[in-house]
Amino acid sequence: MTARAPSASLILTDAERAMLDGREGKARQKAMLLLVRYAEALGAERFVETNNVAGVPGTYTPFLFNYYGATRENAYDLIYSRFDLDSDEVVTVPNMTVHSCHLQGGVDPEGWQILGAKPEALQASQDSEQAASAKGIEILKTCTPYIAGNVPARGEHCAWMESSAVVYCNSVLGARTNTEGRESTSAAMLTGRIPDWGLHRDANRFGSHHIEVDVPVESLMDWGMLGYFVGARVGERIPVLTGRYGTPDLIRYKHFGAAAASSGGVEMYHLVGVTPEAPSFESAFGPNRPVERIRYGLEERRRTYEELNARGTDRNVDYVMLGCPHAALEQMEEIAGLLEGKRISANCNLWVFTSRAIKAVADSRGLTRTIRNAGGAVLTDTCSAIGQALPPGTRVAALDSAKQAHYLPAIMGIQSWFGSTRDCIDAAITGHWNGELT
Ligand code: F3S
Repeated sequence: MTARAPSASLILTDAERAMLDGREGKARQKAMLLLVRYAEALGAERFVETNNVAGVPGTYTPFLFNYYGATRENAYDLIYSRFDLDSDEVVTVPNMTVHSCHLQGGVDPEGWQILGAKPEALQASQDSEQAASAKGIEILKTCTPYIAGNVPARGEHCAWMESSAVVYCNSVLGARTNTEGRESTSAAMLTGRIPDWGLHRDANRFGSHHIEVDVPVESLMDWGMLGYFVGARVGERIPVLTGRYGTPDLIRYKHFGAAAASSGGVEMYHLVGVTPEAPSFESAFGPNRPVERIRYGLEERRRTYEELNARGTDRNVDYVMLGCPHAALEQMEEIAGLLEGKRISANCNLWVFTSRAIKAVADSRGLTRTIRNAGGAVLTDTCSAIGQALPPGTRVAALDSAKQAHYLPAIMGIQSWFGSTRDCIDAAITGHWNGELT
């Protein structure tokens, strides 16, 4: 069978044409067809090769399983074909062509009962995970693949989902990805191709807005607030920051980028003198002139804090959620240290979300045990927003993540407070929100 010809403006290599013509099998043909449609819609003229794809390939829930009328025997091929590749014809999914990993899911296989998941949800998650693993996909099950072993090199073309991971990939690592979707990443895993568009191209990686930081930015909470402010002001453009910040560590980058990607749609930023593509102000902007100069001072910081706390009125906290994006080992150490010898209020639950990789280390270091002994739970693979899971009866949450403060009240219809990790642990122990801006 001959595949449909791409538009005249899309140039294909011989290898890409072979996939499109079906010479590399049906699944790769369907994947290439989808990518050609995608490239044409974007106006891309070619593909780039990628050997680093992060998505949720073929994963299914009971809803998808039932919607497609699947059986346990045919579910993975059926759902990958119909849902991921948008193909009416059901094809056999071969082993992935390139390095591929699975991002976060909806169910923790160990803590699923704490999350209130149903046995059929666990079954669907485990069946699809097993099938994906058999195709060569690394099951990282986290929104922080860069902490769990997937660290692309500078300049490397990737195809990643998950906005907080995308902004880290581009800005901190200097690798290149747009915010992809399930369909494009599943197709990229089979073909090793993604449209040469957006942040894959040099010209689109320069800054647009100049953010002058006129207040010291040090703590994790500070970086989260700054990210939240910046995202709300620049939307989907590329901010270039100068001013009174030091060199952030991995955790501060993680919270800054996640916040900027949630209040806005920031996929890349530059910290002048710090991030790899911004050795100087001039190099960060390249040929662009700043479209706007925006100041972040004491007043902007205070207003951002108030905005992040606008969804809290009742100071009686019944849920504390930490680990958005998934907690790094240093955060697990901090949480365990703050809980050592303490007991969480009988009126409050504490859930800490992390990746399987970090939990394994936390287990071996006794950190998980310390958190559990205090009455908390350490959970993996998901979070309260993605898994839509809260302790029963939750009304008021305390959060140390600006991203989670943006989403959780909206998704779950609860109140929330935002503050430092220490404020949140204090709320878990006392059942009361005492946080304030210092
Ligand atoms: Fe991760 Fe959930 Fe936050 S998947 S980035 S912890 S919203």
